[in-house]
Amino acid sequence: MEASMLEEVVQNPNPYPIVAEMAYDDIWKLCEQARDLAWDPAKLDFSDLQKADLPDEVRKAGAEWWSLRAWMEHGATPYGAERLRDAIFGHQPFEVKQHVVNFIAEELRHHEASFRIANALARYQPSPQSDYFMKIIPKFHDEKEEKQMSFFAGLAVNTLFEQLSGELLQARYENARYESIREACRLILRDEARHIQFGRIVMRRFFGTLSDFDKEQLGKKFAKKLRGSLLNGVYAVVNLPADERKRSARARQLAAEHGLGATHPDHEVAIIADALKKIRADVAPYNVPIPPIPEVEGPATGPSAKAA
Ligand SMILES: [Fe+2]
Ligand SMILES: [Fe+2]
Repeated sequence: MEASMLEEVVQNPNPYPIVAEMAYDDIWKLCEQARDLAWDPAKLDFSDLQKADLPDEVRKAGAEWWSLRAWMEHGATPYGAERLRDAIFGHQPFEVKQHVVNFIAEELRHHEASFRIANALARYQPSPQSDYFMKIIPKFHDEKEEKQMSFFAGLAVNTLFEQLSGELLQARYENARYESIREACRLILRDEARHIQFGRIVMRRFFGTLSDFDKEQLGKKFAKKLRGSLLNGVYAVVNLPADERKRSARARQLAAEHGLGATHPDHEVAIIADALKKIRADVAPYNVPIPPIPEVEGPATGPSAKAA
């Protein structure tokens, strides 16, 4: 083969045509709401936490909890960045790109609000203290399955999780006894409601057009991410190794008992089970097969069955 022919097959990503014509009025509506409802975590007043009469152990537990929340919110940003890149070079209409940009900015401000709470309680932890946990959050960044799927199927994976995390966040909002944490949770929830709404639009508009392969991947990816990382101390502690589970559960239990916007470890699985039921019902009309999640929905082989 001649060198000149090799050069021809190398393609730079081509952004043209850059589409400016609106195609999805319901997605644009979400963009307008995002503009109207923008907020600034730096302007929240966290002095109630600094002044609070809390034992040192509780402050540390609260900071650990909110550091975890901060890492998790941050974990959504690389996912958004990949989707944004796809949207740009896939020539998606403006409102789709705008929504993904909003999504990234919103997840980043949830991250910011969370590390500000951790700092007001004690000190934000930039990395998990346990080796085991160091490995969990990077799994968020594994894009293998999304990359195999079509653009809207890749977007759909996240929208299913938005619903799940929204239910957990509601419980954490209800747990919050400090005004600053309550307000941060309220504002985060308001953003998440839009992310969930986007998921409903994706379902309504695009699920019917997904290939069987995409649907199967979507269900598999959802189950894998839930079992492999989110039940490993992020959404719940159920899949953590015994010693880490005990320590991590204790920290979030302390935070929950003191109204720091946490969920009691004993309550998390029930909330997830409930949310999972709703998600299964939502995707049922589109024949998206979500594999069983025994840790949450009841094991097939006994109560101590563990995910592989
Ligand atoms: Fe978020
Ligand atoms: Fe979100």
